[in-house]
Amino acid sequence: MINERLRNSMNEQIKNELESFYIYMSMTAYFHTRNLDGMAHWMRCQAHEEMTHAMKFFDHINDRGGKVVLLNLNQLKTVWASITEVWQDTYEHEQFITGKINELTTIAREEKDYTSEPMLAWFSKEQLEEEATACKVLEQIKMIGENQSGILMLDRELGARAFPPGSALDPAAYSVTA
Ligand code: FEO
Repeated sequence: MINERLRNSMNEQIKNELESFYIYMSMTAYFHTRNLDGMAHWMRCQAHEEMTHAMKFFDHINDRGGKVVLLNLNQLKTVWASITEVWQDTYEHEQFITGKINELTTIAREEKDYTSEPMLAWFSKEQLEEEATACKVLEQIKMIGENQSGILMLDRELGARAFPPGSALDPAAYSVTA
């Protein structure tokens, strides 16, 4: 049985991960309005990952005999002043999530819920990658500045991110012509 304090915090984390999904879908929509379809695609792939993160916590609580409680999601930002601001927000958001994973790890240790540690260690490693990627793209955007061809090259590069196999967010999964 999962520790109650940890279960409550993991329910909060399901909300955080679902909000991450929503934030990245909002960024997807923004990038489409800027005709940066590669960045939109990258954000959509990221949104898929966030949904799977939420489900990892969802399944973990269930598997441990706890009750999942879905909480209200917060209002989202839908407009950004610049491409740089979107990537700045992405980097800051991932740092926020890393902080939440650290808090969960602390609670698991304080409550001696060692069964949760392997999963939380997986999330720590995942956050290392997510922060590093967001930071790298942000720094590249800063280097490029107002150079339009540089932006288009980066957009093409980010558009090459592979969609996770079987993702429901892949347009091929719901295309009426498929
Ligand atoms: Fe699920 Fe990007 O943290």
